[in-house]
Amino acid sequence: MFKTIIEPFRIKSVEPIRMTTPAEREKKVKDAGYNVFLLRSEDVIIDLLTDSGTGAMSSEQWAAMMRGDESYAGSPSFYRFETAVRNLTGFQHIIPTHQGRAAERILFSVMCKEGDVVPNNTHFDTTRANVEARGAIALDLPSVASKSRESAPFKGNMDIDGLRRAFKEYGPDRIPLVMVTVTNNSGGGQPVSMANVRDIAEVCREHNTPLYIDACRIAENAYFIKLREPGFANKPVCDIVHEMCDLADGCTMSAKKDAIVNIGGFLATRNDDVAKAEKDLLILTEGFPTYGGLAGRDLEAIAQGLVEGCDEDYLHYRLTSTRYLGEHLTAAGVPIITPPGGHAIYIDAASFAPHLSALQLPGIAVCVALYVLGGLRSVEIGTVMFGRRDPKTGEEYPGPRELVRLAIPRRVYTQSHIDYVIEVVTEVYRRNRDLPAYRIVEQALALRHFTARFEPTAAE
Ligand code: F0G
Repeated sequence: MFKTIIEPFRIKSVEPIRMTTPAEREKKVKDAGYNVFLLRSEDVIIDLLTDSGTGAMSSEQWAAMMRGDESYAGSPSFYRFETAVRNLTGFQHIIPTHQGRAAERILFSVMCKEGDVVPNNTHFDTTRANVEARGAIALDLPSVASKSRESAPFKGNMDIDGLRRAFKEYGPDRIPLVMVTVTNNSGGGQPVSMANVRDIAEVCREHNTPLYIDACRIAENAYFIKLREPGFANKPVCDIVHEMCDLADGCTMSAKKDAIVNIGGFLATRNDDVAKAEKDLLILTEGFPTYGGLAGRDLEAIAQGLVEGCDEDYLHYRLTSTRYLGEHLTAAGVPIITPPGGHAIYIDAASFAPHLSALQLPGIAVCVALYVLGGLRSVEIGTVMFGRRDPKTGEEYPGPRELVRLAIPRRVYTQSHIDYVIEVVTEVYRRNRDLPAYRIVEQALALRHFTARFEPTAAE
């Protein structure tokens, strides 16, 4: 009946935002080598760099933190955390880690060896880096629909024919596990359907290969399933999450996303031997298996956050608010990936700045302009993040696509902040032809986007 999106929470504690001018920001971003990762967050007005670890905790989570028991071993906080994860996922062994990538490193260290191949709908950057750190190949198999400009309900799906081909080409012995990332972050934050996970699980079963879920945003994915996939409209989100986990052998999760905490993650499996090897490795680098690099209070916050992250009033607001941003940008002519994803809007930077080629870094040009004009921090997901430089010849190769992500922290910004974002992006797009080309002047060998420095160059 009413159109206005209201946040399903009240604000109890606030943080000031420091206002800055375009002239100040011009200087700040230049000093940061035009890399928004190198800015100080105080110099940002609306921070859409990531939805990871940036959520606002609830009063119930803060209350749970006070209950945190900091015993080195066997803390009741661990058992509350373990019960919460097990209730939601059904997995047997639950191993806490300090964040998602620690879970990934342990999983791939235990399961992969050099020359192996790990298929995924689309690897997130740390997932890819952890597979490659084992000397294995991270194989992306996004569905055909994901590459299309047409809207589709489940553009995050894996290409099942591609998965079958991978098993034929490499042989099951070289594929120690298959992963599916829900929602598909690097593929535009798009959801994966239950039918697709069922198909992936079937191919895995045929080859006796375990399936693991990258479950960072599994609650948002489940809500998309509830809204879009026939047969799920009346199922509770937590049951949909459980049903998806029933198809898998384990998962990794960065709790910094759908568990709405500022730090934490976990690894889960049904396999006793794998769990034992994982716990041994955990002790070496993260800590004893009942805390895994986290404080007892962090485990409490995750246990409570998992319940809140699956709350349907909250998920309705979250997905509606993200869609609102997407629809208003589309109405203003700004090219974005459609339909909007759950946690973010992805600007198509190649169309946004059509006068710039991939190697002229259109994503960086858009990020810098959004920051200078409106104090908005976004992130490039394009040639800097996924392209590469040949270490021998120095030649640069473009990434698969040029995107700029506006990731929405959970429960942090209000609708008026979102309206401001719409105004800023629309204004930068109006001036898109003024965006300069950029080039990389300094870069690391791996995960270069975090620390690279750039400079504007004259566009040809
Ligand atoms: N998998 C996915 C799909 C992710 O999006 C992330 C993190 C990770 C794994 C790693 O988790 O950061 O806790 O180690 N994504 C953040 C982002 C960083 O901005 O999308 P982590």
